[in-house]
Amino acid sequence: MNDMTPTSAERAAKLEGMGCKRKRVEDIRFVQGKGNYVDDIKLPGMLYGDLVHSPHGHARVKKIDTAKAAALPGVVAVITAETLKTVNLAWMPTLAGDTQMVLADGKVLFQNQEVAFVIAESREAAADAVELVEVEYEPLPVNVDPLKAMTDGAPMIREDLKDKTDGAHGKRKHYNHIFSWQAGDKAAADAAFAKAEVTLREMIIYPRVHPCPLETCQCVASFDKIKGELTLWGTFQAPHVIRTVGSLISKIPEHKIHVIAPDIGGGFGNKVGAYPGYICAIVASIVTGRPVKWTEDRIENLSTTAFARDFYMDVEIAATKDGRVTGLRCYTIADHGAFDACANATKWPAGLFSIISGSYDFPAAYCLVDGVYTNKAPGGVAYRCSFRVTEAAYCIERAMDIMAHKLGMDPAEFRMKNLIRREQFPYTSAFGWQYDSGDYQTALKKAMESVDYKKLREEQEAKREAFKRGETRDLMGIGVSFFTEIVGAGPSRACDILGIAMFDSAEIRIHPTGSGICRLGTKSQGQGHETTYAQIIATELGLPADSITVEEGNTDTAPYGLGTYGSRSTPVSGAATAMACRKIKAKAQMIAAYMLEVHDDDLEWDVDRFRVKGNPERFKTMIELAWAAYHQVPPGMEPGLEAINYYDPPNFTYPFGAYICVVDIDVDTGQTKVRRFYALDDCGTRINPMIIEGQIHGGLTEAFGIAMGQEIRYDADGNVTTASFLDYFLPTAVETPHWETDWTTTPSPHHPIGAKGVGESPNVGGVPCFSNAINDAFAFLGSTHIQMPHDHWRTWMAAEKLGLHA
Ligand code: CDP
Repeated sequence: MNDMTPTSAERAAKLEGMGCKRKRVEDIRFVQGKGNYVDDIKLPGMLYGDLVHSPHGHARVKKIDTAKAAALPGVVAVITAETLKTVNLAWMPTLAGDTQMVLADGKVLFQNQEVAFVIAESREAAADAVELVEVEYEPLPVNVDPLKAMTDGAPMIREDLKDKTDGAHGKRKHYNHIFSWQAGDKAAADAAFAKAEVTLREMIIYPRVHPCPLETCQCVASFDKIKGELTLWGTFQAPHVIRTVGSLISKIPEHKIHVIAPDIGGGFGNKVGAYPGYICAIVASIVTGRPVKWTEDRIENLSTTAFARDFYMDVEIAATKDGRVTGLRCYTIADHGAFDACANATKWPAGLFSIISGSYDFPAAYCLVDGVYTNKAPGGVAYRCSFRVTEAAYCIERAMDIMAHKLGMDPAEFRMKNLIRREQFPYTSAFGWQYDSGDYQTALKKAMESVDYKKLREEQEAKREAFKRGETRDLMGIGVSFFTEIVGAGPSRACDILGIAMFDSAEIRIHPTGSGICRLGTKSQGQGHETTYAQIIATELGLPADSITVEEGNTDTAPYGLGTYGSRSTPVSGAATAMACRKIKAKAQMIAAYMLEVHDDDLEWDVDRFRVKGNPERFKTMIELAWAAYHQVPPGMEPGLEAINYYDPPNFTYPFGAYICVVDIDVDTGQTKVRRFYALDDCGTRINPMIIEGQIHGGLTEAFGIAMGQEIRYDADGNVTTASFLDYFLPTAVETPHWETDWTTTPSPHHPIGAKGVGESPNVGGVPCFSNAINDAFAFLGSTHIQMPHDHWRTWMAAEKLGLHA
């Protein structure tokens, strides 16, 4: 080796593998407006579909007259439930085991429900014709309050289920009841409460919110009558699931359905399920023999496609006087709207909500969730959350804060005392989850030191005294949250979607010149998968990340996978990628041994090559081995260098984090300024620190939106009053605070590269952190819990209730 020969470290740096802040390769096309989104797809003879919506929250549909609409120039057809019945598609199955009307069949159950579908030569003609569809309604009593759903005399939402005593998850208690689901040990939890020294009980509401992807849901359906084949381009987070479910519903053989998800402008769970617009576009293409595009507008997105949260959590904590938690109970009413279209793994009607014991060592815990129907839009998706984990984290983090204040302890100190300790991992929670790894105390300690927590509390104390003396009208709040996520659905023994096990996949093909392609069952919606999967391959195979193409979203070419949501891409397909690489590497090692005329065991791996042990001058690089794989394989070995892996993870991964936020509140206006927000995340091995930071910035911004202003509201008549961005808070760069990010690294012991998911974490930890900060500001005045969202009005009201405006 001479001085000019690059060192191993220099060669490794050139690969831009794991740990490198590699620039996002997809941004080259995105920032130039050269992305290829569904709306960019224009096919010859393409028609446009538009939906007619119900103005009522609950009404019988007496008559639909489509004559005037059909007569409008440019209109090709108008589809109603009666048309869909002829192809047996008036109702469709949901992911949660319920059925859902595609178009109103006899009655409408929520405002803006889809009633008819107009197909026209142009988008404008379709929109004009929508106005001409005449529907006669007979209004019915409305219920939008989940706490009243199971009372005597509550309006019956689902007449189709009137006589059904069993639901998808057991007995139904009431005609508006969907499911009951419980976890933990009730007797043990009750016993802990019976002997508790201190208890608290609080109703904690996580309001209905809506993911707001920049790009709304849309599709282009093109049915080829000659071949009997359907091609469907769409904003699909889970293209293979759409193909399988589409085949089961339509009876078109699965190999004759081609689902393609091109570039997607944000998903956040909103693009997991199937919507009436998709079904109508498919039927319209079959009926007309022409391609049909359906594009959702913003009002449709906010008021009809899948919402998130809407959990009413009656939580209790038992503790000793000196601040040790001893028991947890939680009874939850989950508002699923008019149809149970919740996107969870099938066996988990309340998702992974039983992660509600959070990061704390609760010896006993129990939770029960009842799902109910109301006159609201269906959904219940994992919006930047792994299946109801956000609700659970919010609930436990608020409850821990309330308990700390009740005990007269500092919220951080109370958490520190109850956090699961490093030596307890792998830790089995009272709900039976096995947390894979963690070092919680180190993370919280680092967070507290980074913000100088002690000094902040001293400042707050001084401010409180000044407030009491009337010298200031500002209150200072310090929010602490410590969250544990459960991501990477999932082990197939625990998770399936309609019977399809929740594994995922990667298929890697290395070409003769050492470049390659990796195809996966996941689907990026902006997370940077094209950048990061290539980094895993770069480190595993010693090939530059730049020489690897990453492809997702085409069911004809990608291996079968369950898609991207709930931060599952890295835990599952990231693992599949590493495992596929290892198969390739094993073959490359045999080729190297043959070429170097040594035994396999006499070789060792060095960044991008196999070298002979004790003789580093004799080596074969991966690029040389790729060439050899097509020209010079050992006798009897198949040529080529490729591998596929379907990865069924042995466990979930459990990322965690410690967040601290400081707010200043003007009690006379309710105006809240976020002075500081510090977020420490631990997602195990970090593939791309820059992308992680971007994920955290995005998730925190969404958390800020949710905590500080978002809520999908309905009035008593069932009118949705937040169906546009005029009424629904979407933070822009103007309102969004500055984020300080930090990390610790505790690898997952069961993941091939030790990585955990990260995308959801900032939303899971961010929302309670903001809420705790607002609540903390008022706690010294005797306030226990102010419900979200913490918009200025609600905060002003909290001050008013405490008599601060007298
Ligand atoms: O499933 P989804 O892509 O939404 O979530 P994720 O697996 O948490 O990954 C989000 C992005 O962060 C991807 O580009 C990952 O490769 C990246 N990431 C990372 O760089 N290191 C990790 N330990 C986890 C995720």
